[in-house]
Amino acid sequence: MVARLRAAGCVFAEDEARLIMATARSPGELSEMVERRAAGLPLEQVLGWAEFCGLRIAVAPGVFVPRRRTEFLVREAVALLARGDGPAGLAARGPAGLAARGPAGLAARGGGPRSLREDVARPEAIVVDLCCGAGAIGAALAAAVDQAEVHAVDIDPAAVSCARRNVPGHVYQGDLYQPLPASLRGRVSLVVANVPYVPTGEIGFLPPEARAHEPLVALDGGPDGLDVLRRVAAEAPLWLASGGSLLIETSERQVLLASAAFTGSGLTVRIATSDELNATVVIGTLTSS
Ligand SMILES: C[S@@+](CC[C@H](N)C(=O)[O-])C[C@H]1O[C@@H](n2cnc3c(N)ncnc32)[C@H](O)[C@@H]1O
Repeated sequence: MVARLRAAGCVFAEDEARLIMATARSPGELSEMVERRAAGLPLEQVLGWAEFCGLRIAVAPGVFVPRRRTEFLVREAVALLARGDGPAGLAARGPAGLAARGPAGLAARGGGPRSLREDVARPEAIVVDLCCGAGAIGAALAAAVDQAEVHAVDIDPAAVSCARRNVPGHVYQGDLYQPLPASLRGRVSLVVANVPYVPTGEIGFLPPEARAHEPLVALDGGPDGLDVLRRVAAEAPLWLASGGSLLIETSERQVLLASAAFTGSGLTVRIATSDELNATVVIGTLTSS
């Protein structure tokens, strides 16, 4: 297995072989998985899951694989919820708690510490995960924050069906805010989004795993990579409660234009960066209704 994976160009062949062996349920499935990986499918799509914030997120072929970098956005969101000022503030387990919860896994959800029914009956924070993909961000926030009501949206049906397996909340298919219930307007504590942000002209330079196995709709952010971000920022004030925040992942070189889009829609902007995860998040807060 290791030799086959290494010959196909997998740099971490031993680690990948170990994960494939631990996931396959029969020798037939094992060799099928090795062949799919050798053919270039992202490891997570072969395994059927990706690790994200200590959770196992179900990922199917053709669905964007959640990146480690995006854990920084989750950390920032949890910190805002934990801070306690404005509608974003409420009891969160905090970033440390998030890490401490360990690999809860999909199966653990039913018996986990949170009950969706309780949250919906008495929500204290409404979180909207736009462009949710497999739902990694929404799932991690639901796991980390007590009494958060999570609503997740994606335009791609394959992503939506993964998100329905991962997010203990409401998952809708559609264009950005369009499928959300109108009753959420002006009541949302946090809008979180990892939108497509690769400039169209740079798609060809992405690693083959992304280019060939993740859908264009998950990657292509238009001429400067900010088309979707601008649309999310423009409509955010309609949905945020006063004191609520919008958090979007971006890149270091796009951060000024991204911030301008936030400011242009009336949000007060702050930038958070992580050298460790090579991550940049624009955070905009609605300071008046
Ligand atoms: C970069 S991926 C991020 C997925 C997920 N948030 C994550 O971090 O793993 C972007 C996602 O945005 C979705 N998307 C693109 N345009 C959209 C739109 N107009 N409305 C809703 N979702 C959209 C894509 O289908 C894709 O799943």
